[in-house]
Amino acid sequence: MSLQNRQVLLVRRPEGTLRKDSFTVVTTELSEELAPGEILVRNRFLSVDPYQRLLAGGGDTFTQPAPLGAPMPGWAAGEVMASRDPKLSVGDKVVSYLGWQLFGICRGEQARKVGLRGLPLPAYLGVAGMPGVTAYLGTFDIGRPKAGETVVVSAAAGAVGGIVGQLARMHGCRVVGIAGGPAKCRHVVEDLGFAAAADYKAGDLPGDLRKSAPEGIDVYFDSVGGAVLEAVLPLLNPFARIVLCGHISTYDRPESPIPSGWEFLLSRRVRLEGFIVGDRLDRWPEALGRLERWAVEGKLRYEETIVEGLENAPGALPQLFQGKSLGKLVVAI
Ligand SMILES: NC(=O)c1ccc[n+]([C@@H]2O[C@H](COP(=O)([O-])OP(=O)(O)OC[C@H]3O[C@@H](n4cnc5c(N)ncnc54)[C@H](OP(=O)(O)O)[C@@H]3O)[C@@H](O)[C@H]2O)c1
Repeated sequence: MSLQNRQVLLVRRPEGTLRKDSFTVVTTELSEELAPGEILVRNRFLSVDPYQRLLAGGGDTFTQPAPLGAPMPGWAAGEVMASRDPKLSVGDKVVSYLGWQLFGICRGEQARKVGLRGLPLPAYLGVAGMPGVTAYLGTFDIGRPKAGETVVVSAAAGAVGGIVGQLARMHGCRVVGIAGGPAKCRHVVEDLGFAAAADYKAGDLPGDLRKSAPEGIDVYFDSVGGAVLEAVLPLLNPFARIVLCGHISTYDRPESPIPSGWEFLLSRRVRLEGFIVGDRLDRWPEALGRLERWAVEGKLRYEETIVEGLENAPGALPQLFQGKSLGKLVVAI
């Protein structure tokens, strides 16, 4: 027996600005036959994440480039349709790395059973998934803020940044967000409880940040790199920490110059640490358990931007680079 699958294939490596024509949507046949230990999953939500731009580009990155002619790799949340793994049953909700396709087959141990505490399925791709874990481990294991310190977060209205800021606030820090536009800045203050926000599109980020963080910056959670990082460096306090989590402003432009102001790293004795969440798998269970509980209890707020339809996944990824999404971006299929 086989079923008709729908897949989003990467067909062209993007150069410069990512466009949807790097992808094509095809219908293929998938044999439903399962080997012992395997499960068949019907995906319901596809995760759209900035690192997929790096995978598609195929340049120097922390993991294997996405192969051309194959479904775009990525996280997905769905439902078990058939199982030859005794630990998983038909109807179980799972998160897997089956990528951008309607159906997929993987080994049961490659899927994480979710939904037991009742969060909606897309939340397991965001607050209670990889971006939430990135926020948790980046904040507590790498940034290690102390109560009373000032924490600045860039891409503050996004999937990772929105959680970082709330975790640091819950930890007793004064949190300042950096985001693009007045609506996102209002959101992080009024909805997520940050102390202040600076709009990097308003024209004077260094001046606005100085006003928002008058006592200087103790921890900077960097998702953006480039000009935003340059604006932060002179404001760092002695012994500040930088969590180097991402540099989305240059994913489309790998030839961008290294930000200036590196002399501050020495004079302020800054600890700067690059961090990849997948290197710390042993820490995921603690992070996922707490994030899910806090989200269920309403202590952590999370937003989602949902794009409808598998055929719209290629157009969804560029939205991350245009600042069009709020919170976690997912495709419902
Ligand atoms: N190291 C790791 O293990 C790891 C894991 C997950 C994510 N990350 C990184 O964390 C960052 C955030 O990921 P996410 O999933 O939470 O994405 P996201 O914040 O939900 O979406 C990306 C946001 O980046 C902002 N942005 C885009 N281009 C920008 C530019 N040129 N200058 C300033 N801001 C820009 C946009 O917000 P505005 O509207 O505010 O511009 C956009 O909404 C990314 O750099 C990602 O690669 C790293």
